[in-house]
Amino acid sequence: MGSQNNRVAWFQGGDVPCEPMPYDRPYRLVLFGPPGVGKGTQAELLTHVLGTCHLSTGDVFRAAQCEGGSSPAVKEALDAMRRGELVSDPLVVALVRERARCLRCRGGFLLDGFPRTIAQAEALDMLLAEQDVSLNAVLDYELSLEKIVERLSGRRTCPRCNAVYHLTTRPPLAAGVCDQCGGGLVQRVDDRLGSVRVRMQTYQANTQPLIDYYSRTGKLVTIQAVGSPTEILERTLAAISPFQPDSGDSGVRSDTNPPAPK
Ligand code: AP5
Repeated sequence: MGSQNNRVAWFQGGDVPCEPMPYDRPYRLVLFGPPGVGKGTQAELLTHVLGTCHLSTGDVFRAAQCEGGSSPAVKEALDAMRRGELVSDPLVVALVRERARCLRCRGGFLLDGFPRTIAQAEALDMLLAEQDVSLNAVLDYELSLEKIVERLSGRRTCPRCNAVYHLTTRPPLAAGVCDQCGGGLVQRVDDRLGSVRVRMQTYQANTQPLIDYYSRTGKLVTIQAVGSPTEILERTLAAISPFQPDSGDSGVRSDTNPPAPK
């Protein structure tokens, strides 16, 4: 079992030090699929099993919202999110570029919510090349629209620690209270029906074309997202096993992430 990376470098950007567990075979994966399919839930489980760091662009924007981020760029991003639309490519790419160091994390990574457009996928290719690392696989989760709406309408999240619950399939121990930090649970503004409709249309128009983009790389793996989170995790682990990184492929240059203490 891996240990959970603390994601501090991802949330804060720049040169903030992190505490990743070094792995001999770090996985570098993109999690792909419509809103509410369960990417965040799988990322949390995979992080525990693989030791990879969960890099979610949506989480960074929501954290900025909690911190009352009021720069014009952050305000523009939060307005787009509320409407269920995509944040502009230049803004998202700049955000990931500021955190490009996370792409050579010693534990590997799970990119969740990025890339979402062809322009973002091309920018990611460039960033990976600059960091001298490459993706092992792109996981495309599939689920019926009916099930997706069920998952999104019942989702509750903790704005303080980002934990995710569901009113029926993953309820907190005490109603409305986060098990992990005691924070008050909320419904995400973009989980309301009007925004969900826009998010699904946006996904079909902008993000689905990425399926062709990645199938050409031979790294696209389709995973059925029906069943319990643990069943889907098992399916995911089986699906990625042929894409296991080579031993010693740390992909990490010696000037970053000093060796873990013995
Ligand atoms: P983002 O935060 O990335 O959201 P999303 O892609 O819409 O995905 P979600 O977080 O809604 O769903 P999920 O698939 O992670 O599902 P979860 O595991 O929570 O993006 C939000 C917004 O930010 C975008 O709309 C956009 O505006 C902006 N943005 C972010 N990145 C951007 C980018 N790159 N470019 C432009 N804009 C960007 O599960 C959902 C629910 O189902 C939970 O309640 C969970 O408990 C439950 N559940 C999960 N799995 C199961 C299961 N197996 N059985 C039963 N219930 C389950």
